[in-house]
Amino acid sequence: MKNIIIDTDPGHDDALAIMLAVKSGMFNIRAVTTVAGNSTIENTTRNARYILKLLGREDIPVYSGAEKPLKRELVQAAVHGKSGFEGLDPQNDANLTGNAAEKIISIAGEGNVTLITLGPLTNIATAIKQNPEAMSKLKEIVMMGGAIRVPGNKSRTAEFNIFVDPEAADIVFRFPAKKTLVPLDACNHVKLQLEDFERIGGKLREPAIAMMKPYIRNIKNNEGVSAALMYDPLTIYSIMNPSACMKGLYNVMVETKGELTSGMSVADMRKKCGKPNMTVIERIDSEAFKNDFIRILSG
Ligand code: BDR
Ligand code: CA
Repeated sequence: MKNIIIDTDPGHDDALAIMLAVKSGMFNIRAVTTVAGNSTIENTTRNARYILKLLGREDIPVYSGAEKPLKRELVQAAVHGKSGFEGLDPQNDANLTGNAAEKIISIAGEGNVTLITLGPLTNIATAIKQNPEAMSKLKEIVMMGGAIRVPGNKSRTAEFNIFVDPEAADIVFRFPAKKTLVPLDACNHVKLQLEDFERIGGKLREPAIAMMKPYIRNIKNNEGVSAALMYDPLTIYSIMNPSACMKGLYNVMVETKGELTSGMSVADMRKKCGKPNMTVIERIDSEAFKNDFIRILSG
């Protein structure tokens, strides 16, 4: 089993990603760490605890982290609703611990751990600034974020997770660890309908349907796409099934200053700007994902 930390801002697709990771049985989830992004840190932490309870996995520790980006005010997402988890709208305590970066550092320092990020990179950049030595012991950092050859989903050029905290993303992208990026390019074509979630059997069926109804409606209203977009579960899946992924090596940097391009992930397509600093997942087999996802969540 792969040792992982999931840093996340649940969020409907984050919730599905946590469900996929837990139900796959492929991971030893050392911690779930939370960050403000899709919603406030209170909401993302409350939602993370709720999802683990739903899964009967309250033994997995949740540590809360940054309440806002390194240098900017928090911009929340539109599609997850006021609670960050419209449709289920948990009421449990958030129980903030405020020590996500410290816990990431201490688990990373043990070695043989993959860090998966599903939200803005604030906690990770903080951990790198505090203890680069421990963070360089990470086996890999796998990040959902960026838009390489496609438009952004938060601005004309920027994907949400990078848009929210470009300064943090800049620190992480420059950090010399093994890194993989799962950008919009790999996610935009994987679209699930409510009927797909209705194929889920077992305990997760009802909550999955309840949460996907508003998510699909909000995506249609905000992004004009009539489907559930699966950014964060695809990021988990890219680790579960690498043979379903097409990938390339690129040098990718983050624009932190541009008026129109702040938060843009800029890849060197000419391959002239130094060595590649990450693997970029460019395509994921949609049918393989869909079938595995429904089967695993039903299990
Ligand atoms: C990313 O932004 C968030 O809204 C999603 O949870 C995902 O991590 C997609 O741009
Ligand atoms: Ca997310």
